[in-house]
Amino acid sequence: MSKHKDSNTLWGGRFAEPTDQFVQRFTASVQFDQRMAQDDIQGSRAHADMLCAVGVLTEDERTQIQGGLDRVLTEIEDGQFQWSIEREDVHMNIEARLTELIGNTGKKLHTGRSRNDQVATDIRLHLRAAIDVIGLELTRLQRGTIELAANHCDTIMPGFTHLQTAQPVVFGHHLLAWNEMLERDYGRLIDCRARLNQSPLGAAALAGTTYPIDREMTAHALGFDRPTVNSLDSVSDRDFAIEFCSFAALLMTHLSRMSEELVLWTSAQFNFIALPDRFCTGSSIMPQKKNPDVPELVRGKVGRVNGHLVSLLTLMKSQPLAYNKDNQEDKEPIFDTIDTVLGSLRAFADMIPAVVPRKEQMREAARRGFSTATDLADYLVRKGLPFRDAHEVVGMAVGHGVETDTDLADMSLATLQQFSADIEADVFDVLTLEGSVAARDHLGGTAPRQVRAAAKTALQRLEERTP
Ligand code: ARG
Repeated sequence: MSKHKDSNTLWGGRFAEPTDQFVQRFTASVQFDQRMAQDDIQGSRAHADMLCAVGVLTEDERTQIQGGLDRVLTEIEDGQFQWSIEREDVHMNIEARLTELIGNTGKKLHTGRSRNDQVATDIRLHLRAAIDVIGLELTRLQRGTIELAANHCDTIMPGFTHLQTAQPVVFGHHLLAWNEMLERDYGRLIDCRARLNQSPLGAAALAGTTYPIDREMTAHALGFDRPTVNSLDSVSDRDFAIEFCSFAALLMTHLSRMSEELVLWTSAQFNFIALPDRFCTGSSIMPQKKNPDVPELVRGKVGRVNGHLVSLLTLMKSQPLAYNKDNQEDKEPIFDTIDTVLGSLRAFADMIPAVVPRKEQMREAARRGFSTATDLADYLVRKGLPFRDAHEVVGMAVGHGVETDTDLADMSLATLQQFSADIEADVFDVLTLEGSVAARDHLGGTAPRQVRAAAKTALQRLEERTP
Protein backbone atom coordinates (compact mmCIF):
# COMPACT_ATOMS: atom_id res chain seq x y z
CA MET A 1 0.00 0.00 0.00
CA SER A 2 1.27 3.41 -0.96
CA LYS A 3 1.81 6.26 1.44
CA HIS A 4 -0.15 9.31 0.49
CA LYS A 5 0.15 12.95 1.24
CA ASP A 6 0.98 14.33 4.61
CA SER A 7 -2.61 14.72 5.79
CA ASN A 8 -3.52 11.14 5.05
CA THR A 9 -0.65 9.88 7.13
CA LEU A 10 -2.79 10.81 10.14
CA TRP A 11 -5.39 8.22 9.19
CA GLY A 12 -3.80 6.91 5.99
CA GLY A 13 -3.54 3.21 6.87
CA ARG A 14 -7.12 2.46 5.96
CA PHE A 15 -7.17 4.45 2.75
CA ALA A 16 -6.49 3.06 -0.71
CA GLU A 17 -6.45 6.39 -2.54
CA PRO A 18 -5.70 9.94 -1.54
CA THR A 19 -8.46 12.37 -0.67
CA ASP A 20 -9.81 14.16 -3.72
CA GLN A 21 -8.20 17.59 -3.94
CA PHE A 22 -11.47 19.45 -3.98
CA VAL A 23 -12.79 17.35 -1.09
CA GLN A 24 -9.65 18.20 0.82
CA ARG A 25 -10.30 21.91 0.39
CA PHE A 26 -14.01 21.50 0.95
CA THR A 27 -13.59 19.68 4.25
CA ALA A 28 -10.68 21.74 5.58
CA SER A 29 -11.26 24.26 8.34
CA VAL A 30 -7.75 25.58 8.88
CA GLN A 31 -8.55 28.77 6.98
CA PHE A 32 -10.75 29.84 9.87
CA ASP A 33 -10.02 27.62 12.85
CA GLN A 34 -6.33 28.70 12.99
CA ARG A 35 -7.82 31.49 15.05
CA MET A 36 -7.98 28.96 17.91
CA ALA A 37 -4.27 28.13 17.74
CA GLN A 38 -3.44 29.50 21.17
CA ASP A 39 -6.39 27.72 22.73
CA ASP A 40 -5.35 24.52 21.01
CA ILE A 41 -1.82 24.77 22.37
CA GLN A 42 -3.11 25.61 25.84
CA GLY A 43 -5.29 22.48 25.73
CA SER A 44 -2.39 20.35 24.48
CA ARG A 45 -0.13 21.57 27.26
CA ALA A 46 -2.65 20.59 29.91
CA HIS A 47 -3.18 17.23 28.24
CA ALA A 48 0.56 16.49 28.03
CA ASP A 49 1.13 17.43 31.67
CA MET A 50 -1.70 15.17 32.69
CA LEU A 51 -0.44 12.25 30.56
CA CYS A 52 2.89 12.59 32.32
CA ALA A 53 1.30 12.83 35.78
CA VAL A 54 -0.58 9.57 35.23
CA GLY A 55 2.51 7.81 33.82
CA VAL A 56 1.51 7.63 30.14
CA LEU A 57 4.34 9.99 29.10
CA THR A 58 7.78 10.15 30.68
CA GLU A 59 9.03 13.39 32.16
CA ASP A 60 11.48 13.66 29.27
CA GLU A 61 8.71 13.25 26.71
CA ARG A 62 6.61 15.81 28.50
CA THR A 63 9.48 18.31 28.45
CA GLN A 64 10.10 17.72 24.76
CA ILE A 65 6.45 18.23 23.94
CA GLN A 66 6.19 21.42 25.99
CA GLY A 67 9.37 22.79 24.41
CA GLY A 68 8.06 21.92 20.95
CA LEU A 69 4.74 23.60 21.67
CA ASP A 70 6.65 26.70 22.79
CA ARG A 71 8.36 26.80 19.42
CA VAL A 72 5.13 26.22 17.51
CA LEU A 73 3.47 29.04 19.42
CA THR A 74 6.37 31.38 18.66
CA GLU A 75 6.18 30.53 14.98
CA ILE A 76 2.46 31.27 14.97
CA GLU A 77 2.85 34.53 16.87
CA ASP A 78 5.64 35.65 14.57
CA GLY A 79 3.60 34.81 11.50
CA GLN A 80 6.22 32.22 10.43
CA PHE A 81 3.98 29.20 10.78
CA GLN A 82 3.14 27.51 7.48
CA TRP A 83 -0.55 26.66 7.66
CA SER A 84 -1.39 23.89 5.25
CA ILE A 85 -4.75 22.90 3.85
CA GLU A 86 -3.51 19.30 3.52
CA ARG A 87 -3.33 19.18 7.27
CA GLU A 88 -7.02 20.10 7.35
CA ASP A 89 -7.48 21.93 10.60
CA VAL A 90 -5.71 23.81 13.35
CA HIS A 91 -5.33 20.66 15.44
CA MET A 92 -3.55 18.59 12.81
CA ASN A 93 -1.45 21.52 11.60
CA ILE A 94 -0.07 22.06 15.07
CA GLU A 95 0.44 18.39 15.84
CA ALA A 96 2.20 17.74 12.53
CA ARG A 97 4.48 20.73 13.00
CA LEU A 98 5.25 19.60 16.55
CA THR A 99 6.32 16.24 15.20
CA GLU A 100 8.48 17.88 12.53
CA LEU A 101 10.19 19.87 15.27
CA ILE A 102 10.69 17.24 17.98
CA GLY A 103 10.40 13.95 16.12
CA ASN A 104 8.45 10.86 17.15
CA THR A 105 7.63 12.06 20.66
CA GLY A 106 5.30 14.58 19.00
CA LYS A 107 3.16 11.68 17.86
CA LYS A 108 2.50 10.70 21.47
CA LEU A 109 0.65 13.92 22.29
CA HIS A 110 -2.60 12.60 20.87
CA THR A 111 -2.63 9.58 23.22
CA GLY A 112 -5.98 9.31 25.00
CA ARG A 113 -7.44 12.21 23.08
CA SER A 114 -9.42 12.79 19.89
CA ARG A 115 -9.94 15.87 17.81
CA ASN A 116 -13.54 15.62 18.94
CA ASP A 117 -12.85 16.44 22.58
CA GLN A 118 -9.94 18.62 21.52
CA VAL A 119 -12.06 20.90 19.34
CA ALA A 120 -14.84 21.03 21.93
CA THR A 121 -12.24 22.16 24.48
CA ASP A 122 -10.69 24.71 22.12
CA ILE A 123 -13.98 26.43 21.29
CA ARG A 124 -14.91 26.67 24.94
CA LEU A 125 -11.55 28.21 25.78
CA HIS A 126 -11.78 30.61 22.87
CA LEU A 127 -15.33 31.66 23.64
CA ARG A 128 -14.63 32.02 27.34
CA ALA A 129 -11.80 34.46 26.65
CA ALA A 130 -14.03 36.38 24.27
CA ILE A 131 -16.83 36.49 26.84
CA ASP A 132 -14.46 38.03 29.36
CA VAL A 133 -13.44 40.80 26.96
CA ILE A 134 -17.07 41.36 25.95
CA GLY A 135 -18.00 41.63 29.63
CA LEU A 136 -15.45 44.39 30.11
CA GLU A 137 -16.60 46.30 27.02
CA LEU A 138 -20.23 45.97 28.07
CA THR A 139 -19.35 47.27 31.52
CA ARG A 140 -17.51 50.21 29.95
CA LEU A 141 -20.58 51.05 27.86
CA GLN A 142 -22.83 50.80 30.90
CA ARG A 143 -20.54 53.04 32.92
CA GLY A 144 -20.60 55.70 30.18
CA THR A 145 -24.37 55.47 29.92
CA ILE A 146 -24.93 55.77 33.65
CA GLU A 147 -22.50 58.67 33.98
CA LEU A 148 -24.25 60.55 31.19
CA ALA A 149 -27.55 59.81 32.92
CA ALA A 150 -26.25 61.13 36.23
CA ASN A 151 -25.43 64.42 34.50
CA HIS A 152 -28.91 64.74 33.06
CA CYS A 153 -31.30 64.07 35.91
CA ASP A 154 -32.91 67.49 35.32
CA THR A 155 -32.75 67.61 31.53
CA ILE A 156 -36.33 67.43 30.36
CA MET A 157 -37.34 65.74 27.13
CA PRO A 158 -40.57 64.33 25.78
CA GLY A 159 -41.17 60.68 26.59
CA PHE A 160 -42.84 58.82 23.75
CA THR A 161 -45.34 56.09 23.18
CA HIS A 162 -46.10 55.23 19.56
CA LEU A 163 -43.34 57.76 18.86
CA GLN A 164 -45.92 60.43 19.74
CA THR A 165 -45.18 62.84 22.58
CA ALA A 166 -46.61 61.24 25.70
CA GLN A 167 -45.32 62.68 28.98
CA PRO A 168 -42.23 64.58 29.94
CA VAL A 169 -39.32 62.56 31.31
CA VAL A 170 -35.77 63.47 32.14
CA PHE A 171 -33.02 62.43 29.73
CA GLY A 172 -31.22 60.57 32.49
CA HIS A 173 -34.29 58.39 32.97
CA HIS A 174 -34.26 57.45 29.30
CA LEU A 175 -30.57 56.60 29.46
CA LEU A 176 -31.08 54.45 32.53
CA ALA A 177 -33.75 52.53 30.63
CA TRP A 178 -31.02 51.65 28.13
CA ASN A 179 -28.83 50.61 31.01
CA GLU A 180 -31.47 48.17 32.27
CA MET A 181 -31.46 46.42 28.89
CA LEU A 182 -27.68 46.18 29.04
CA GLU A 183 -27.77 44.99 32.64
CA ARG A 184 -29.92 42.03 31.63
CA ASP A 185 -27.53 41.34 28.75
CA TYR A 186 -24.67 41.21 31.19
CA GLY A 187 -26.58 38.74 33.34
CA ARG A 188 -27.19 36.51 30.34
CA LEU A 189 -23.51 36.68 29.39
CA ILE A 190 -22.47 35.55 32.86
CA ASP A 191 -25.04 32.73 32.85
CA CYS A 192 -23.70 31.57 29.51
CA ARG A 193 -20.15 31.61 30.84
CA ALA A 194 -21.08 29.50 33.85
CA ARG A 195 -22.60 26.71 31.74
CA LEU A 196 -19.78 26.90 29.20
CA ASN A 197 -17.03 26.61 31.77
CA GLN A 198 -16.77 22.81 31.93
CA SER A 199 -14.05 20.70 30.41
CA PRO A 200 -14.93 18.16 27.70
CA LEU A 201 -11.29 17.05 27.49
CA GLY A 202 -11.01 13.32 28.11
CA ALA A 203 -14.23 12.39 26.35
CA ALA A 204 -11.91 11.42 23.48
CA ALA A 205 -13.75 10.44 20.29
CA LEU A 206 -17.05 9.76 22.06
CA ALA A 207 -16.78 6.99 24.62
CA GLY A 208 -13.83 7.99 26.76
CA THR A 209 -10.41 6.39 26.66
CA THR A 210 -8.65 3.30 28.00
CA TYR A 211 -5.80 5.32 29.49
CA PRO A 212 -5.90 6.21 33.19
CA ILE A 213 -6.52 9.91 32.50
CA ASP A 214 -7.18 12.53 35.17
CA ARG A 215 -9.95 14.77 33.88
CA GLU A 216 -10.08 16.82 37.05
CA MET A 217 -6.45 17.74 36.52
CA THR A 218 -6.88 19.01 32.95
CA ALA A 219 -10.14 20.76 33.84
CA HIS A 220 -8.40 22.57 36.67
CA ALA A 221 -5.31 23.43 34.62
CA LEU A 222 -7.49 25.02 31.95
CA GLY A 223 -9.49 27.08 34.44
CA PHE A 224 -12.70 25.11 33.99
CA ASP A 225 -14.99 24.69 36.99
CA ARG A 226 -15.22 20.93 36.48
CA PRO A 227 -15.14 18.22 33.80
CA THR A 228 -18.33 17.56 31.83
CA VAL A 229 -20.07 14.39 32.99
CA ASN A 230 -20.99 12.45 29.86
CA SER A 231 -18.52 11.70 27.09
CA LEU A 232 -21.12 11.49 24.30
CA ASP A 233 -22.61 14.81 25.30
CA SER A 234 -19.16 16.36 25.73
CA VAL A 235 -18.14 15.96 22.12
CA SER A 236 -21.51 16.84 20.62
CA ASP A 237 -22.77 19.66 22.81
CA ARG A 238 -22.75 23.13 21.28
CA ASP A 239 -25.46 24.60 23.52
CA PHE A 240 -22.96 27.08 24.90
CA ALA A 241 -22.41 28.49 21.40
CA ILE A 242 -26.15 28.84 20.87
CA GLU A 243 -26.54 30.49 24.26
CA PHE A 244 -23.75 32.88 23.42
CA CYS A 245 -25.32 33.78 20.09
CA SER A 246 -28.70 34.28 21.71
CA PHE A 247 -27.11 36.57 24.29
CA ALA A 248 -25.50 38.37 21.36
CA ALA A 249 -28.70 38.62 19.32
CA LEU A 250 -30.53 40.19 22.23
CA LEU A 251 -27.66 42.56 23.01
CA MET A 252 -27.51 43.62 19.36
CA THR A 253 -31.28 44.09 19.39
CA HIS A 254 -30.83 46.47 22.30
CA LEU A 255 -27.99 48.28 20.58
CA SER A 256 -30.18 48.61 17.50
CA ARG A 257 -32.92 50.22 19.57
CA MET A 258 -30.42 52.65 21.04
CA SER A 259 -29.03 53.24 17.55
CA GLU A 260 -32.45 53.98 16.16
CA GLU A 261 -33.05 56.61 18.83
CA LEU A 262 -29.64 58.18 18.26
CA VAL A 263 -30.35 58.35 14.54
CA LEU A 264 -33.74 59.97 15.14
CA TRP A 265 -32.37 62.38 17.71
CA THR A 266 -29.55 63.62 15.47
CA SER A 267 -31.99 64.39 12.64
CA ALA A 268 -32.91 68.01 11.96
CA GLN A 269 -36.52 67.12 12.79
CA PHE A 270 -35.71 66.09 16.37
CA ASN A 271 -32.38 67.80 16.90
CA PHE A 272 -32.17 66.45 20.48
CA ILE A 273 -28.48 65.59 20.46
CA ALA A 274 -25.25 66.19 18.61
CA LEU A 275 -22.78 63.42 17.90
CA PRO A 276 -19.15 64.52 17.62
CA ASP A 277 -17.85 64.56 14.05
CA ARG A 278 -15.52 61.66 14.69
CA PHE A 279 -18.50 59.29 14.86
CA CYS A 280 -20.08 60.61 11.68
CA THR A 281 -19.33 60.84 7.99
CA GLY A 282 -20.27 63.27 5.27
CA SER A 283 -21.87 62.89 1.91
CA SER A 284 -19.94 63.00 -1.35
CA ILE A 285 -22.69 65.04 -3.00
CA MET A 286 -24.68 66.87 -0.30
CA PRO A 287 -22.35 69.27 1.51
CA GLN A 288 -24.71 69.83 4.44
CA LYS A 289 -24.89 66.16 5.44
CA LYS A 290 -23.48 64.74 8.65
CA ASN A 291 -24.57 61.15 8.82
CA PRO A 292 -24.76 59.07 12.02
CA ASP A 293 -22.97 56.13 10.39
CA VAL A 294 -21.84 54.44 13.58
CA PRO A 295 -25.30 53.89 15.07
CA GLU A 296 -26.69 53.05 11.63
CA LEU A 297 -24.05 50.40 11.08
CA VAL A 298 -24.59 48.87 14.51
CA ARG A 299 -28.32 48.80 13.81
CA GLY A 300 -27.58 46.99 10.56
CA LYS A 301 -25.27 44.45 12.14
CA VAL A 302 -28.09 42.85 14.11
CA GLY A 303 -28.98 41.02 10.94
CA ARG A 304 -25.83 38.97 10.77
CA VAL A 305 -25.89 38.09 14.47
CA ASN A 306 -29.52 36.96 14.29
CA GLY A 307 -28.45 34.94 11.25
CA HIS A 308 -25.66 33.25 13.18
CA LEU A 309 -28.05 32.28 15.97
CA VAL A 310 -30.38 30.68 13.45
CA SER A 311 -27.42 28.99 11.73
CA LEU A 312 -26.32 27.34 14.95
CA LEU A 313 -29.81 26.29 15.97
CA THR A 314 -30.28 24.77 12.55
CA LEU A 315 -26.82 23.20 12.61
CA MET A 316 -27.65 21.32 15.78
CA LYS A 317 -31.22 20.43 14.94
CA SER A 318 -31.71 16.67 14.55
CA GLN A 319 -28.02 15.84 14.92
CA PRO A 320 -27.62 12.32 16.23
CA LEU A 321 -25.09 11.72 18.98
CA ALA A 322 -22.21 12.08 19.13
CA TYR A 323 -19.75 14.18 17.08
CA ASN A 324 -20.65 14.89 13.46
CA LYS A 325 -18.65 16.82 10.93
CA ASP A 326 -21.55 19.26 10.75
CA ASN A 327 -20.13 20.74 13.91
CA GLN A 328 -17.21 22.20 12.03
CA GLU A 329 -19.75 24.71 10.75
CA ASP A 330 -20.04 26.19 14.24
CA LYS A 331 -16.78 28.17 14.04
CA GLU A 332 -17.50 30.95 11.58
CA PRO A 333 -20.82 31.98 13.16
CA ILE A 334 -19.20 32.00 16.60
CA PHE A 335 -16.18 34.00 15.46
CA ASP A 336 -18.18 36.53 13.51
CA THR A 337 -20.58 36.96 16.41
CA ILE A 338 -17.66 37.66 18.74
CA ASP A 339 -16.18 40.20 16.33
CA THR A 340 -19.47 41.91 15.60
CA VAL A 341 -20.43 42.22 19.25
CA LEU A 342 -17.00 43.48 20.26
CA GLY A 343 -16.88 46.03 17.45
CA SER A 344 -20.38 47.29 18.18
CA LEU A 345 -19.76 47.53 21.91
CA ARG A 346 -16.51 49.34 21.39
CA ALA A 347 -18.15 51.86 19.06
CA PHE A 348 -20.94 52.46 21.55
CA ALA A 349 -18.72 52.62 24.61
CA ASP A 350 -16.63 55.30 22.85
CA MET A 351 -19.62 57.19 21.48
CA ILE A 352 -22.12 57.39 24.34
CA PRO A 353 -19.99 59.55 26.67
CA ALA A 354 -19.48 61.90 23.70
CA VAL A 355 -23.21 62.47 23.09
CA VAL A 356 -24.07 66.15 23.53
CA PRO A 357 -27.73 66.69 24.47
CA ARG A 358 -29.34 69.88 23.17
CA LYS A 359 -31.27 70.68 26.31
CA GLU A 360 -33.23 73.61 24.88
CA GLN A 361 -34.54 71.63 21.92
CA MET A 362 -35.52 68.69 24.11
CA ARG A 363 -37.36 70.96 26.48
CA GLU A 364 -39.07 72.82 23.69
CA ALA A 365 -40.26 69.53 22.14
CA ALA A 366 -41.71 68.43 25.49
CA ARG A 367 -43.44 71.78 25.87
CA ARG A 368 -44.97 71.67 22.39
CA GLY A 369 -46.53 68.25 22.56
CA PHE A 370 -49.22 68.68 25.29
CA SER A 371 -47.06 66.37 27.32
CA THR A 372 -48.58 67.51 30.63
CA ALA A 373 -52.14 66.61 29.62
CA THR A 374 -52.14 63.58 31.93
CA ASP A 375 -51.01 65.84 34.77
CA LEU A 376 -54.04 68.07 34.17
CA ALA A 377 -56.32 65.03 34.27
CA ASP A 378 -54.71 63.84 37.52
CA TYR A 379 -55.17 67.36 38.89
CA LEU A 380 -58.91 67.23 38.15
CA VAL A 381 -59.17 63.81 39.78
CA ARG A 382 -57.62 65.28 42.91
CA LYS A 383 -60.35 67.95 42.73
CA GLY A 384 -62.96 65.21 42.80
CA LEU A 385 -63.70 64.38 39.15
CA PRO A 386 -63.82 60.70 38.11
CA PHE A 387 -60.80 59.92 35.89
CA ARG A 388 -62.86 59.25 32.74
CA ASP A 389 -64.56 62.66 33.03
CA ALA A 390 -61.24 64.33 33.68
CA HIS A 391 -59.87 62.60 30.55
CA GLU A 392 -62.78 64.04 28.54
CA VAL A 393 -62.26 67.57 29.87
CA VAL A 394 -58.55 67.54 29.09
CA GLY A 395 -59.24 66.11 25.65
CA MET A 396 -61.36 69.18 24.88
CA ALA A 397 -58.70 71.52 26.24
CA VAL A 398 -56.08 69.84 24.04
CA GLY A 399 -58.43 70.09 21.05
CA HIS A 400 -58.63 73.81 21.67
CA GLY A 401 -54.84 73.97 21.98
CA VAL A 402 -54.38 72.23 18.65
CA GLU A 403 -56.80 74.67 16.95
CA THR A 404 -55.18 77.74 18.43
CA ASP A 405 -51.63 76.37 18.47
CA THR A 406 -51.24 76.96 22.22
CA ASP A 407 -49.83 74.60 24.81
CA LEU A 408 -51.85 73.94 27.97
CA ALA A 409 -49.35 75.78 30.15
CA ASP A 410 -49.68 78.86 27.92
CA MET A 411 -53.51 79.10 28.16
CA SER A 412 -55.01 81.65 30.49
CA LEU A 413 -56.82 80.51 33.62
CA ALA A 414 -60.07 81.82 32.14
CA THR A 415 -59.58 79.73 29.02
CA LEU A 416 -58.88 76.63 31.05
CA GLN A 417 -61.91 77.24 33.26
CA GLN A 418 -64.14 77.08 30.17
CA PHE A 419 -63.45 73.36 30.17
CA SER A 420 -63.95 72.80 33.90
CA ALA A 421 -64.99 75.05 36.74
CA ASP A 422 -62.80 72.93 39.05
CA ILE A 423 -59.65 74.40 37.55
CA GLU A 424 -58.01 77.00 39.77
CA ALA A 425 -54.83 79.05 39.73
CA ASP A 426 -52.76 76.24 41.26
CA VAL A 427 -53.21 74.32 38.00
CA PHE A 428 -50.08 75.95 36.61
CA ASP A 429 -47.93 74.08 39.13
CA VAL A 430 -48.85 70.80 37.48
CA LEU A 431 -48.77 72.09 33.91
CA THR A 432 -45.09 72.95 34.06
CA LEU A 433 -42.65 70.35 32.82
CA GLU A 434 -40.66 70.47 36.05
CA GLY A 435 -43.82 69.94 38.11
CA SER A 436 -44.82 67.04 35.89
CA VAL A 437 -41.59 65.07 36.22
CA ALA A 438 -41.14 65.90 39.92
CA ALA A 439 -44.60 64.48 40.65
CA ARG A 440 -43.59 60.98 39.48
CA ASP A 441 -41.68 60.47 42.64
CA HIS A 442 -41.57 56.75 43.35
CA LEU A 443 -39.26 53.84 42.65
CA GLY A 444 -38.77 53.61 38.88
CA GLY A 445 -40.38 56.99 38.17
CA THR A 446 -38.87 59.93 36.31
CA ALA A 447 -38.68 62.44 39.19
CA PRO A 448 -35.14 63.88 39.15
CA ARG A 449 -34.71 62.78 42.77
CA GLN A 450 -35.53 59.18 41.81
CA VAL A 451 -33.33 59.26 38.72
CA ARG A 452 -30.38 60.53 40.72
CA ALA A 453 -30.83 57.66 43.16
CA ALA A 454 -31.28 55.16 40.33
CA ALA A 455 -28.05 56.29 38.69
CA LYS A 456 -26.22 55.83 41.96
CA THR A 457 -27.62 52.33 42.45
CA ALA A 458 -26.80 51.39 38.87
CA LEU A 459 -23.21 52.51 39.31
CA GLN A 460 -22.90 50.55 42.56
CA ARG A 461 -24.14 47.45 40.77
CA LEU A 462 -21.32 47.89 38.25
CA GLU A 463 -18.71 48.27 40.97
CA GLU A 464 -19.84 44.99 42.54
CA ARG A 465 -19.02 43.04 39.38
CA THR A 466 -16.07 40.75 39.64
CA PRO A 467 -13.78 41.51 36.71
N1 ARG B 1 -12.08 20.49 12.33
C1 ARG B 1 -12.98 19.67 13.08
C2 ARG B 1 -14.12 20.53 13.65
O1 ARG B 1 -14.02 21.69 13.58
C3 ARG B 1 -12.24 19.04 14.20
C4 ARG B 1 -12.84 17.75 14.67
C5 ARG B 1 -12.75 16.74 13.58
N2 ARG B 1 -13.12 15.45 14.03
C6 ARG B 1 -13.37 14.48 13.18
N3 ARG B 1 -13.71 13.34 13.67
N4 ARG B 1 -13.34 14.67 11.89
O2 ARG B 1 -15.09 20.05 14.12
